[in-house]
Amino acid sequence: MKILVTGMCGYIGSHTVVELLQNNYEVVGLDNFSNSKREVLDKIKQITNKEFKFYEGDMLDKNILQTIFSENKIEAVIDFAAYKAVGESVQKPVEYYINNVSSVLNLLNVMKENDVKTLVFSSSATVYGNPEKVPIKETSKTGGTTNPYGTSKLFVEKILEDLYKSDNTWNICILRYFNPIGAHKSGLIGEEPNGIPANLVPYVTKVAKGKLEYLNVFGNDYNTKDGTGVRDYIHVVDLALGHVKAIEKLKKEKQGLYIYNLGTGTGYSVLDIINTFEKVNNIKVPYKIVERREGDIDSCYSNPEKAKKELNFTAKYTLEDMLKDAWNYEKNSH
Ligand code: NAD
Ligand code: UD1
Repeated sequence: MKILVTGMCGYIGSHTVVELLQNNYEVVGLDNFSNSKREVLDKIKQITNKEFKFYEGDMLDKNILQTIFSENKIEAVIDFAAYKAVGESVQKPVEYYINNVSSVLNLLNVMKENDVKTLVFSSSATVYGNPEKVPIKETSKTGGTTNPYGTSKLFVEKILEDLYKSDNTWNICILRYFNPIGAHKSGLIGEEPNGIPANLVPYVTKVAKGKLEYLNVFGNDYNTKDGTGVRDYIHVVDLALGHVKAIEKLKKEKQGLYIYNLGTGTGYSVLDIINTFEKVNNIKVPYKIVERREGDIDSCYSNPEKAKKELNFTAKYTLEDMLKDAWNYEKNSH
């Protein structure tokens, strides 16, 4: 099966392409390098020793999408391309809505014109807003997003629902990721945030490396076991395998609209992350407790049962694996 992967050089895209190639899928990639580097292409080749096709271009440019569909017999699309920095989205809402919503509209138009109706879309647990109850099921209420990034994901989910309602020959899988962390075992690909990381684990690895002095722990008065925020961290390689399972499901079903949480179902606190990181990597992570970060919630973790039952997907890597691999990548980069 030939799959177009948009945003293939990014963090999750690159790990997914590795798993797709290793499972004998043919990959045609697209990226504009707005948040990734060209070297990733060589790294993917190095890891897999497999060929793939790549186009440099912007999903906002309908011509590049048309060229890809006319030059390749694309059978399915996995759409990763988006901007993802929550804080930046508050400063630049228009840019975020254009890049995260218009790009999908372009894609859907070109897919329709070419009669390709199989799509996997990257959504996020952020669509649940402040959940009423944890663990979160797919049927839990969505909405109440607090930033344009989160709202852009919610909008696209709605667009996909409307599209499917209008034409139920579409075959769509919406994946709501919890907190992807870690890196490929090879240490060749991983997460590369621009500037000072906003997310916990990339910040921890920079502190461990001595690039940042200490970690700010955003609040210890949450309603959790130790007062710090609890999240569902999932190894990025498990997440990547979740996409292979989603493609397998769509291949089997031929039509439908499916929504799955991709998480482990276990919540860990910020202090769990620090302690486990220190233990498995034998390296200190100095930290200070500071004020809460605006918009943060106590606990967010998934009920992963639907993906287990319908996709045959279960995350395999432990928190120890995730933090070892995150450090292995940071240690070897730059
Ligand atoms: P990333 O920034 O590492 O990767 C996105 C890739 O898309 C980058 O290589 C970027 O250059 C490319 N891109 C962006 N806009 C583009 C455009 N208009 N045309 C072509 N290429 C474009 O992000 P990621 O962490 O790999 O996330 C992938 C997807 O998963 C995104 O849709 C993101 O919103 C979603 N997601 C990520 C997380 C997370 O924690 N990383 C959590 C939930 C959902
Ligand atoms: C954030 C985004 C979410 C996005 C997700 C994955 C916000 C409000 N939400 O979620 O939309 O889908 O990343 O990219 O930004 N923490 C610290 N110190 C730090 C960084 C984080 O204590 O320097 C704490 C946070 O308070 C939280 C936990 O660590 O309790 C995880 O934070 P983070 O990695 O930013 O992920 P989320 O907040 O879950």
